[in-house]
Amino acid sequence: MLLKDALTSAIDRLTSARVGSPRMNAEILLMFTLDCDRAYLYAHPERELTNQEQTRYDEAITQRASGSPAQYITGHQEFWGMDLIVSPAVLIPRPETEHVIETVLRLVDSGRASSSGSPLRIVDIGTGSGCIALVLAKELPDAELHATDISPAALEIARANAARHQLTDRIDFHQADLLAGLAPNSFDFVVSNPPYVGESEEDQVQLEVRKFEPRNAVFAGPTGLEVIQRLIPQAEAGLKPGGWLVMEISGTIAAGVQRLLHSWNNVQLAHDLQGIPRVASARKPPAQITPL
Ligand SMILES: C[S@@+](CC[C@H](N)C(=O)[O-])C[C@H]1O[C@@H](n2cnc3c(N)ncnc32)[C@H](O)[C@@H]1O
Repeated sequence: MLLKDALTSAIDRLTSARVGSPRMNAEILLMFTLDCDRAYLYAHPERELTNQEQTRYDEAITQRASGSPAQYITGHQEFWGMDLIVSPAVLIPRPETEHVIETVLRLVDSGRASSSGSPLRIVDIGTGSGCIALVLAKELPDAELHATDISPAALEIARANAARHQLTDRIDFHQADLLAGLAPNSFDFVVSNPPYVGESEEDQVQLEVRKFEPRNAVFAGPTGLEVIQRLIPQAEAGLKPGGWLVMEISGTIAAGVQRLLHSWNNVQLAHDLQGIPRVASARKPPAQITPL
C-alpha cells in the first residue's frame, strides 16, 4: 500500500473509533512505524510500505483505536524539550507540570532558596517517568537531586530516563512512601506532582486516562486531597527551615490545599494557561527560637 493511502485509511479508522485529532494521531504513529519525521511523510506520499511496515502500522492503529494513548504505543513523550521514555507503569508527563518546574526555577533565580553556599538539595516525590527530577538536574547543574516513588516499575522507567540523558550520577532514586526514610530537615525543596484526583470526580476524568494510566498515579482517594494531606507534614519534616514545598494541584482541591498550608509562610497558587490553579508553593517557617 502507498504511504498516502495507509495514512488516509488510518485516519478513517481513528475517526470512526472517535479518537480525537485523528490525522495527528495517524501521522504520529506512521512516523513511529517508519522512524521518520513529518517532513518525510509529506515528501514521500507515493512510497510503498513493506508488508512488515504495513503490519506494524495496522497494529499501532488498532491499539490507538481501542483508546491506548499514542505515547504508550510509541513509548515516548517530550517534556521541557527532553525526550522521555514512557510505559503504562508511569503517568504520561503533561505540559501543565512544566509550571512546577517554572516555579522552582523562579524561586532559585530570585535567590529566595539560598542554601548558605552548599548545593541545593531537592527531592521529587512521586517521580513517575522522572520528568521533574530530570529537568531540575539538567537546569540546576550544581543541585543534589533525590526522587522517590512507591512503584518499583515507575522507578525502573525513571532510572532508564536518567541513563538516556546521562543524569544517572545526578539523581538518587528511592523506592519510598512519600518521604519515608529520607533525612529530616535536609532539603531546600520538596517538589511533587502527587496523585490529586478524587474518586468522586472519576466520571469527569477522560476514559483514556482511567483505562490506561496507572490508577495510583492519578487517584488519591475519595476527595483527591488524601496524598497531599500526608505529604504536607512529611515535607515540613524533610525541609530545612525556610525550605520550599512546590506541588502540582487542581482547581478542585485548591481551597483544601490552602487550608492544609495555613501554618506555612508565603503560600501562593500559580495558575496554568487555562486559568486553573495549578501549582501551590509554600515556605517552611524558620526555626522557632525558644526563649530561655
Ligand atoms: C501524578 S503521578 C506524577 C508522575 C511524574 N512526577 C509526573 O509529573 O509526570 C504521581 C506519582 O506518584 C507515585 N505515588 C503514588 N503514591 C505514592 C506514595 N505514597 N509515595 C510515593 N510515590 C507515590 C505514583 O506511582 C506516580 O508515579
